[in-house]
Amino acid sequence: MARHLTILTGASRGMGAAIAEQLLQSGATVIGISRATNAELDAKAAAAGATLEQWAIDLADAPAAARRVEDWLAAQSAETFDSATLINNAAALTRIGPLEASDADELARALRVGLEAPLLLTAAFLRATQGWRARRDGQCKVLNISSGLGRSAMASQASYCAVKAGMDHFTRSVALDQTHAAHPAHVVSLAPGVIDTDMQVQLRAGDPSRFPDRDRFVQMKTGGQLDSPAAAATKVLAYLRRADFGSKPVADVRDA
Ligand SMILES: NC(=O)c1ccc[n+]([C@@H]2O[C@H](COP(=O)([O-])OP(=O)(O)OC[C@H]3O[C@@H](n4cnc5c(N)ncnc54)[C@H](OP(=O)(O)O)[C@@H]3O)[C@@H](O)[C@H]2O)c1
Repeated sequence: MARHLTILTGASRGMGAAIAEQLLQSGATVIGISRATNAELDAKAAAAGATLEQWAIDLADAPAAARRVEDWLAAQSAETFDSATLINNAAALTRIGPLEASDADELARALRVGLEAPLLLTAAFLRATQGWRARRDGQCKVLNISSGLGRSAMASQASYCAVKAGMDHFTRSVALDQTHAAHPAHVVSLAPGVIDTDMQVQLRAGDPSRFPDRDRFVQMKTGGQLDSPAAAATKVLAYLRRADFGSKPVADVRDA
């Protein structure tokens, strides 16, 4: 039986939990990384007969998280998995408002979780899978979950815009690296659409006097324009399975 490995950050809730659930249902091995663990996912893994490890890790300490991932990968046999995927999905908003009103520690944390951790985890993943059979077979992928806000700016969330623009651009750079690799991994920074999760709750709860776009987010919710986490996960995983995955390093799940 084929063995597929996915390392997934932000697996505890939101779209990440839905991605984990769908991967487990297909029998994949999932390593979930979040601060909290999700007991329902353990039950779903058991029901599906799939392997799930949940690591309670704060990605604000990105070097420690990357070391743990690299050590774990190094301890696996290079022949075990038919495919290996890293999905950098975790991210955090900061308190909604203009940059000058932000808390420095909160800003720094959001940058570490949303940008530093994906960059370091990608480096660890690419290094550790270098000699893997899956890599030789063209079956190693990095999927960075980006956002439309990395591509068009919005007021009151400078850190999030910077994180996602940075994620898009480091993905472009890594894709160029991979064109010189003997056995390239495929990398994509993907905007997942608008999803009915805690992140949207946070945006709708923003103070309108400090958040000019708040009404737009309220209207998307009342107008039924948000994808459920499950629907968004299905679209993201369908994109991941596309035969041309990696041909466009910066993409949108709504791309035809
Ligand atoms: N929702 C949307 O409309 C939307 C739109 C465009 C892009 N996105 C992107 O899609 C991805 C998923 O978003 P979502 O809406 O599902 O978010 P969410 O519901 O807020 O979930 C965020 C996930 O990230 C994890 N996380 C946050 N801080 C962390 C930390 N310090 N260390 C480890 N894990 C941490 C959380 O787990 P813990 O709290 O347990 O640590 C949680 O599992 C994000 O990259 C987001 O930027 C979302």
